[in-house]
Amino acid sequence: MITIAKKKYTKGISISPKIQKLHLELQPFKSVSKLLHFHSDHLYQYLTNGDTFPIHIEINLTNVCNQRCPWCINENVKANGRKPEYLNIKRLSMFLANFQSLGGKTITWSGGGEPTCHPEFTEAVEECAKFGLEQALITNGAFDENLVPVISNHMRWIRVSLDAINPEEYKRNKGTEIDVVIDRIIKLVSTRNSRVTPIVGINVNMGEWNFFDIKNIVLKSEELGVNYVQFRPILGRPYVDAIYGEQLTPNFIKTVLPELQLLSQKEKSCKVIVSKDKFKDLLEPNYGRNYGSCRYHRFFCVLNANGDLSVCMFHLYDKRFVFGNIYNETFEAIWKGEQRKRVVKFCEDGGLNLATCQVCCKGHEINKFLTYLDSEDGKLLKEVVLQAEEIKNNSHSNFL
Ligand SMILES: C[S@@+](CC[C@H](N)C(=O)[O-])C[C@H]1O[C@@H](n2cnc3c(N)ncnc32)[C@H](O)[C@@H]1O
Ligand code: SF4
Ligand code: SF4
Repeated sequence: MITIAKKKYTKGISISPKIQKLHLELQPFKSVSKLLHFHSDHLYQYLTNGDTFPIHIEINLTNVCNQRCPWCINENVKANGRKPEYLNIKRLSMFLANFQSLGGKTITWSGGGEPTCHPEFTEAVEECAKFGLEQALITNGAFDENLVPVISNHMRWIRVSLDAINPEEYKRNKGTEIDVVIDRIIKLVSTRNSRVTPIVGINVNMGEWNFFDIKNIVLKSEELGVNYVQFRPILGRPYVDAIYGEQLTPNFIKTVLPELQLLSQKEKSCKVIVSKDKFKDLLEPNYGRNYGSCRYHRFFCVLNANGDLSVCMFHLYDKRFVFGNIYNETFEAIWKGEQRKRVVKFCEDGGLNLATCQVCCKGHEINKFLTYLDSEDGKLLKEVVLQAEEIKNNSHSNFL
């Protein structure tokens, strides 16, 4: 991990910012690189003041979903076990205004459930656009075709969780017809053709069930003209007493990873991305965690469909992880409030048992990186990060 941080940092110095931005946009999960390159001011603020505001928020518009993936990480929050919830758009708008005024820059619509299942999805997107926030969408792609223009016009990137290309396997696992999703991808790509955005990507959650089809998935992705296809491991759900309770086996990972890496090295018209860090960390003791607490929430949080502002997607509805609720308070009041202080203390001062967390979660890389910065090895990088930010704000910054 140390090498990753150093490698990315060195890359940042030698590659032009424009190319690098594009490169990073094609890999929407390189959170450490993004923090270093685009949000170093927030990192600086955190390292010097001990806190900052989030740059990015993930929003669960609803916990309703029109599919039934048996590995769904949100199994225990979806509306099949709970009452259906939909964020109120007027409240959401007030929240977004406040978020933006405090330096918020981007939001991702995700779930929870399936964001496009909110009956006022269009209104939510348009409200967000009014405040100049950049938007991205993680979707299963099984949405009404009337939503294509609003998605295409407002999203910077869209990641469609396709998972399979074989129609029978697709239906058997996800519960709906693949044709609808393929049609929506084609429409999104065709609206993109005259411009750079939105970047359209395909996500494939890998398990033993879809390994046989990886080459066809890549071929189809090329044919569809998407920007990238990404292969990630299905993460086990020890909290659900059913299938996909365990992590992928080491044997399977050791078989699948080289095959995927081979595919990613071949010349392709769409980029083949393999989340090798996640695959590899699944093989490590303690899943590659070098940290004992979570500090990711300093930079990121989740607005849930019930109005709760929460630490992350994994601990929704658990009050120990809820900073506050937007139906009761503004974003700023929540962020500066006593309840958040208690949650932060819980996450950072020994209360949080990482065994109850999702392995290789969204905060994993940032948590590793922050721990590395605190280590003896990371001291130099930390100094560079701090100095670079100070120089950036100095009038001599362009005179080397
Ligand atoms: C919970 S879904 C919500 C958005 C939308 N319904 C979708 O499927 O894209 C958010 C992301 O989590 C991924 N996901 C769901 N279950 C997972 C698991 N067990 N391991 C890894 N990723 C998972 C989905 O593939 C999707 O990319
Ligand atoms: S489409 Fe998304 S939210 Fe729905 S079951 Fe699949 S992973 Fe879960
Ligand atoms: S799941 Fe990840 S982001 Fe959430 S509290 Fe645990 S370590 Fe932090």
